[in-house]
Amino acid sequence: MGHKHLFQHLDRLNPDAILGLMAKFRADTFSQKVDLGVGVYRDLSGNTPILECVRRAEQIVFGSQTTKSYVAAAGREEFNSAVEEMVLGASHAARRERRTRTVQAPGGCGALRVGAELIRAASPSATVLVSDPTWGNHTPLLGSSGLKLARYPYYDAKTHQLRFDAMLERLELAREGDVVLVHACCHNPSGADLDAAQWRILGDLLQRRRLTPFLDLAYQGFGVDLEADAAGIRLLAQTLPEALIAVSHSKNLGLYRERVGALIVIGESESRADAVLSHVLQIARGIYSMPPDHGAAIAACIFADPQLRRSWVTELASMRSRIQDMRRLLATHLRAVTHGDSFDFIETQHGMFSLLGVPGEAVEALRDKHHIYMTTDSRMNLAGLMPHNVAYVAESIAAVR
Ligand code: LMR
Repeated sequence: MGHKHLFQHLDRLNPDAILGLMAKFRADTFSQKVDLGVGVYRDLSGNTPILECVRRAEQIVFGSQTTKSYVAAAGREEFNSAVEEMVLGASHAARRERRTRTVQAPGGCGALRVGAELIRAASPSATVLVSDPTWGNHTPLLGSSGLKLARYPYYDAKTHQLRFDAMLERLELAREGDVVLVHACCHNPSGADLDAAQWRILGDLLQRRRLTPFLDLAYQGFGVDLEADAAGIRLLAQTLPEALIAVSHSKNLGLYRERVGALIVIGESESRADAVLSHVLQIARGIYSMPPDHGAAIAACIFADPQLRRSWVTELASMRSRIQDMRRLLATHLRAVTHGDSFDFIETQHGMFSLLGVPGEAVEALRDKHHIYMTTDSRMNLAGLMPHNVAYVAESIAAVR
């Protein structure tokens, strides 16, 4: 077979489902269009604002920065230790025992990818089990490392119920040494989270079956608050000798494009944690060399300054409560237009997303006839709703169901 051009066998791929939807929404010229697609927060004017604490911290960073030279492969130390404390708590046993290591990563995606490569380096034959359903990008992020992926049942979109028993049954069948990816809070796409008792049962199963948790924490503060949203992670990190945690600050600091995240690894001993860290740094060096600094410098400034931190916690609470308001309002309107069907699940779930639980054709009709955009699995970003368009969205949903 002759080779004329290097790229001659590359056919055009379909765009990523979420990013493709962003492009379709932008191209729609209808003035009342509604974007319930990509998971970014929107305020009452439909903007994704720069948080006030971020604006102030950015000025401080600009004023005090004296060089653009490299920081380090692990990024900023003060950022890493603040993130670790926020995720695990100040006095977590794993931290006291010096078994935790944190490196800055280019967003939660960077942390997930480095984590996947780390698992592959440690145990090439390990399978990573992901929830069914899960965030669309988990498969490419973890799968491109060459790891085998499998699914465990998690949520039934039709009945709006967690499938906790089926999840446990599947995890019982996992091979010793396998890894289980768990959404730490605000499950994407379902908004359905484990309760405290379920976290305990999960922790016991993972320990008994010698499975390692890989926790994805992209929405800390969007569920209940910063502490409560980390409770599941803290419990697993206490129950189990090892864990990986991918942290994102895209949403809770609104720093999406700055790519601010971290990978926390927990080893069974201090020296093992050091060994794991050396692999993490080598993997990072081989992919992107060093993480971007600007967003992490802003985040570190906010975490360290009591006043900025207080202002952040207040702004985070207001983003959270705006989403909760939209959840309540949409459920109320849907009940009215469907004459009493239960939409309680929309009110009680956590974070930005819920699955409406309608077929793909209904999602298409919403997009093509009503200019309302959500992913084909009927995931709605509730932060894309506004008080003025909730009635329109509810009526449109009732019309296509
Ligand atoms: C989402 O799920 O929509 C967000 O996490 C954005 C993304 O990158 O997909």
